[in-house]
Amino acid sequence: MKKNVFVFSRLDSEYVLRLEDNFNVTQLDPQGDIDAQYAAALPEAHGLLGVGRPMGRAQLAQAGRLEVISTISVGYDNYDLDYLNERGILLTNTPDVLTETTADLGFALLISAARRIAELDAWVKAGNWQATLGPAQFGCDVHGKTLGILGLGNIGAAVARRGRFGFGMDVLYHGNSRKPALEQELGARFCGFDELLGEADFVCVVVPLSERTHKLIGRRELALMKPSAILVNVARGPVIDEAALVEALQNRQIQAAGLDVYEQEPLRESPLFALSNVVTLPHAGSATYETRRAMVELALDNLEQALLGGTPRYRVNPRVRGT
Ligand code: DGY
Repeated sequence: MKKNVFVFSRLDSEYVLRLEDNFNVTQLDPQGDIDAQYAAALPEAHGLLGVGRPMGRAQLAQAGRLEVISTISVGYDNYDLDYLNERGILLTNTPDVLTETTADLGFALLISAARRIAELDAWVKAGNWQATLGPAQFGCDVHGKTLGILGLGNIGAAVARRGRFGFGMDVLYHGNSRKPALEQELGARFCGFDELLGEADFVCVVVPLSERTHKLIGRRELALMKPSAILVNVARGPVIDEAALVEALQNRQIQAAGLDVYEQEPLRESPLFALSNVVTLPHAGSATYETRRAMVELALDNLEQALLGGTPRYRVNPRVRGT
């Protein structure tokens, strides 16, 4: 008998057809009554596929048959892992395929904030370009500066490579552990958290969100940064205390920021909107046609393997399956 899969994100029909080869598939209709659809689907579902919905005890209590959740993301901060472990529910994710794409966007934010690309684009389109540019429109150099990476994982290393080999930057990093191979490859120097904040011209935040990293960057940390520093966040919004960042940007305590993620998403109203020294993107790190397809395909592979008796490659909590 086919197992039941509930797809809670939008999925192209080709992927729904692929799933239907092996499963009974129900897809969330975003125009319908969302709560009613979850209430109907969860008790039957053996597998869930999607992204962007917090899931823990409250949301999954009725999901008595659930074996696997396949998230179409590398990040899994939306999931209560302790609860999934307690219930023996496997969580799979989609790392690797989005590394370079997310690093591209991180570096784009860095350059955009430094060279004021988004701001100058709006300025030109508003008809303000009347004469040769003066210092009021100048930005700052990227090449040859010091890039500080908080969290030298796959994405952090990919950002660092762009800085090192594309822009001749010196790379500092801080994280849980030393990365000798990357130190060798990138000439990167491991340093203390405060030291990195004080020395880097660009601080790029690429840590996963956890209790430990929640509000990692707040008033104290912003005060440690250079007044000329630029902060980039392609990790998760709550890693930065947004109110403190707004204050630091308003007071020019730091020069600028490039943000892809926020405490509350989607970002609909925010004091950030009034600031010209911040570039705001809509959590677009992995949002290219190629990469989103690769993520969906990987999430489908994970789900199929988990429900059809195989071992998915990307398991967040592998021990629930005794592997
Ligand atoms: C991820 O995959 O975690 C990206 O942030 C998209 O959610």
